[in-house]
Parts: sequence; structure tokens; C-alpha cells
Amino acid sequence: MPRIRVEPLGIEVEAPYGETVMNAVCAQGYFWPIGCDKAGECTNCAMEVISGIGRLSNMGRYERENLIRQRGRQTLEDPRLRLACQAHVEGDVVVHKQGVIPN
Ligand code: FES
Repeated sequence: MPRIRVEPLGIEVEAPYGETVMNAVCAQGYFWPIGCDKAGECTNCAMEVISGIGRLSNMGRYERENLIRQRGRQTLEDPRLRLACQAHVEGDVVVHKQGVIPN
């Protein structure tokens, strides 16, 4: 099973292949900051992918458009920024997200 490490909290969880980063982490009892219904609209769940960006599903048009709408086109200049509710796990990744805490 793929593993997700979340910094700076320093936790590591297993994720069923194809699960979103957010759902996999929350299923293990952690809170992940959100502002919508995990729908890819608010971008509050955005995370920095420290390693394993190629082991996440590709960014879809909906995620891309909402990142631009909420944070500006320059956001896409950093390919490490992904929405945790939209990025599906296909292998081990390390991500950074402030505000992830035990639930
Ligand atoms: S939770 Fe709103 S975009 Fe991910």
C-alpha cells in the first residue's frame, strides 16, 4: 500500500491505491483544513508535494481552473502545489501541509 508522510506534523499513514491524499490521512484520525465539501473548489486543502509528485494522479482541468481562480495563474508555476482532495495516491509521497492535526 502506498504511504503518505505529512510534514511538519511528521506522521505517516498507509493509503489504499487511488485514494485521495486527504481521505487517506483523515481516515487515520487526522484533521485536514478544508473550506468546501472536498470538492476541489476552495483550494484550502492545497499542499506542497515534497517528493513523489509523479506518484500522484495528474492534475485535472477542474483542479487547475480552481487553483487559478482562487490563487492566481502564477500558482501553476509551482508544480508541487496540489489539492489534497483531488490528488489520488499511486505510490509513496511526502507532503507539507500546515494545519493537519490529530482529530
Ligand atoms: S477541500 Fe476545498 S478544494 Fe479541497
